[in-house]
Amino acid sequence: MKILVVGGGGREHAIIKKLKENPQVTEIFALPGNGGIAADAVCVNIGAKDIPQIVEFAVSRGVDYAVVAPDDPLVLGAVDALEEKGIPCFGPRANAAIIEGSKVFAKDLMKKYHIPTARYEVFTDMEAALRYLDTAPVPTVIKADGLALGKGVIIAQTRQEAKEAVQSMMQDKVFGKSGDQIVIEEFLTGPEVSVLSFTDGETVVPMISSMDHKRAGDGDTGLNTGGMGTVAPNPYYTADIAQRCMEEIFLPTIRAMKAEGRTFRGCLYFGLMLTPNGPKVIEYNCRFGDPETQVVLPLLESDLLTIMQATTKGTLAQTEVKFQDAHACCVILASKGYPTAYEKGYPISIPGEITSHVYVAGAAQKDGQLVTSGGRVLGVTAVSDNLKGAIREAYAMAETIRFENRYCRHDIGARALEAGRN
Ligand code: AMP
Ligand code: GLY
Repeated sequence: MKILVVGGGGREHAIIKKLKENPQVTEIFALPGNGGIAADAVCVNIGAKDIPQIVEFAVSRGVDYAVVAPDDPLVLGAVDALEEKGIPCFGPRANAAIIEGSKVFAKDLMKKYHIPTARYEVFTDMEAALRYLDTAPVPTVIKADGLALGKGVIIAQTRQEAKEAVQSMMQDKVFGKSGDQIVIEEFLTGPEVSVLSFTDGETVVPMISSMDHKRAGDGDTGLNTGGMGTVAPNPYYTADIAQRCMEEIFLPTIRAMKAEGRTFRGCLYFGLMLTPNGPKVIEYNCRFGDPETQVVLPLLESDLLTIMQATTKGTLAQTEVKFQDAHACCVILASKGYPTAYEKGYPISIPGEITSHVYVAGAAQKDGQLVTSGGRVLGVTAVSDNLKGAIREAYAMAETIRFENRYCRHDIGARALEAGRN
C-alpha cells in the first residue's frame, strides 16, 4: 500500500514510524516531511497547505490512503479534496474540522449540547468587548476565534491587560482575520489533561491520556510554546474521571457533531481541565497533538493503519485499539531562543543506536548532514514500565544528541511524578 502523510513535524514522524510497522505498507510519501523524516519516508517538496498540488501528487502516484495531520490543511478542506478524487483519508472534512478552526463554533456547540466548558461571551465589536471587561471578573481569558499558530489565547491577570489583549486582536489584528471575532471566557483552574481519541463519527475510542508542558522554561515559566515535552499516561486522569469524560464530554461531542450534520472522523483531541467542579473542555483540536503523539503512539500496541482505516469506513466499534500498560516520556530538544528568535543551520549528531527513539521536527538535510532548521528540533521518547524510568531514559538519550544552541526543559514529567505519588 502507498500511503501519503501531509505535514512535516515531530508528530508526523511519529505517525510515519508507527505506520511503517504494518507490513502491507510499501511506500510512504511525506508532504513536505523534513530532513529527519527522510530516513523513514519519501519527502516531497509540496507544502502542507498546497491542497491542489497535494491532490495532484496523490492521484499521479496512485496513493491508496492519505493521512492529513496538521490543522491548517484539515480546516482548508484537504480531506474533502482528496476524497473527491476517490482517495480515502484519515482526518475530518472541513465542515467538522471547524471544531478547531473556530473557537466560537466550538463554544456555541458546547453550550447548545450542555458539554461542560468555561462560561463565555462572544464579541465582534471591540467597544462592546471593552465595556464588558469593565465589570468582568479577573483573571480572564481572551481567545481569537480562528487558528493563530497556537498563540491566540491570552490569560489576562488584570482588566487593563485584558483590554490590551482585546485591542491587539481586534484593532491591531495581530492574528489577522482570526481576531475579527473573539471569545472572552471564565478562567478555570486545575490540572490539564490531553486526551486524543479515534472516532468514526459514531464510536469514540480515547487513546492513553497525556500531559503536555507548554511553557518554555522549567517550573512552567516563560512563554507559551508548541510544547516542550510530554508524558503518558497522565496521573491525574483516573478511571473515574475517564468514565465521567466519556459520558459528559466525549460521546456528547461526537453526537453533537453528527446532529449538526458535521460528522467528525479522524482524531479528535480533547484539551481538558480537571476543575473543582468536574472535567471541562478547554479546547478541541481536529488532529493529533504535537508532542502528545510522540508519547501516545509509541504505547499503541494495535496496528495504527487498521485503526485509521476503521475511522474512515465506520467500523471502529469492531476494531481493536489497545495500549501498552507502560509509561512514556518525550523530551523536546529546541533551538535556544525558541519560541521567539533563534539561530539555525547547526549540524546535529544523533548516535545510531537511539534513532528509533527520535522524532525529528525542525531539521533539514544540507550536504548530506542533518542540520537544525526550526525552533523545536526533535523529540526523544523513552518507554518504561514506570514513569521515573521513562523520564530517566528519555533524558539519558537526549544527553547523547549534540547540536549547537541546544535547549531543553529539565523537568519534563516532574509534576506527573509528584502527582503519581499522592
Ligand atoms: P490553547 O492555545 O487553546 O491550547 O490554550 C493555551 C493554554 O491556555 C491552555 O493549555 C490552558 O493552559 C490555558 N487556558 C485556555 N483556556 C483557559 C481557561 N478558560 N482557563 C484557564 N486557562 C485556560
Ligand atoms: N500540544 C498541543 C497541541 O498539539 O495543540
